[in-house]
Amino acid sequence: MKDRIITALDVDNIVEAKALVDKLAEAVFFKVGLQAFLGFGNELITHLKSKNKKLFLDLKFKDIPNTVYGAVKSSLKYTPEFLTIHLSGGAAMIKQAVAAAADVPGLSILGVTVLTSLSAADLKDIGVALAPEDAVLKLCELGLNNGLNSFVCSPLEIAPIKKRFGRDVVLVTPGIRPEWAAKGDQQRVFTPKMAVEAGSDYLVIGRPITRSESPHDAFIKILDEISCPVRTGRR
Ligand code: C5P
Repeated sequence: MKDRIITALDVDNIVEAKALVDKLAEAVFFKVGLQAFLGFGNELITHLKSKNKKLFLDLKFKDIPNTVYGAVKSSLKYTPEFLTIHLSGGAAMIKQAVAAAADVPGLSILGVTVLTSLSAADLKDIGVALAPEDAVLKLCELGLNNGLNSFVCSPLEIAPIKKRFGRDVVLVTPGIRPEWAAKGDQQRVFTPKMAVEAGSDYLVIGRPITRSESPHDAFIKILDEISCPVRTGRR
């Protein structure tokens, strides 16, 4: 269960980022996004690797196919376990990302569906007439048809995706808030337990852990919540 919780290291300095990794001794998987990568990526990733942590490099590539092929190739030196591309980059771009990562053991390319920050109205503004759930399903289908089977989506879309495409599709979900944590800017949230029960394979959790008074205790509390369904009396 431990490696199903991915802690998002969205902080603005290397001292804080390293301190978090050190405090989270039990955590296995960390997400390095644009803020940390552009600020101090090399040093942070070296630190993570020295502690045998898994790396989710969340740079969400979207560009012409040739450029994304090159970006994925360049990312390989960081030996990430997960790497993200935007599915809206289209079939040829997805194929090139997959080709660049072919034969790299232990690496999964994740397709980002629709950002959880986008509402139906926002989608309309960028020319997408579909409802968010339908847009997500369409993008997953595009990913599956072009060599992907792992996707980033909101917890709300876990059930529809698994229903349509089967249990083998791997889903990684942000938008997770334990009952005891502040929602922050996340609107449509699931608790860790709800997300796992809905079929999420990996939970991406940032502030409820990193901004907690004790990141270690917060992590353990979440781990406990997803590891011990019996305690709720539902099973
Ligand atoms: O702090 P919080 O738990 O909200 O962090 C969630 C993480 O997941 C952030 O790194 C955010 O960029 C990322 N994310 C998200 N929604 C998406 C895709 C990624 O919140 N649709």
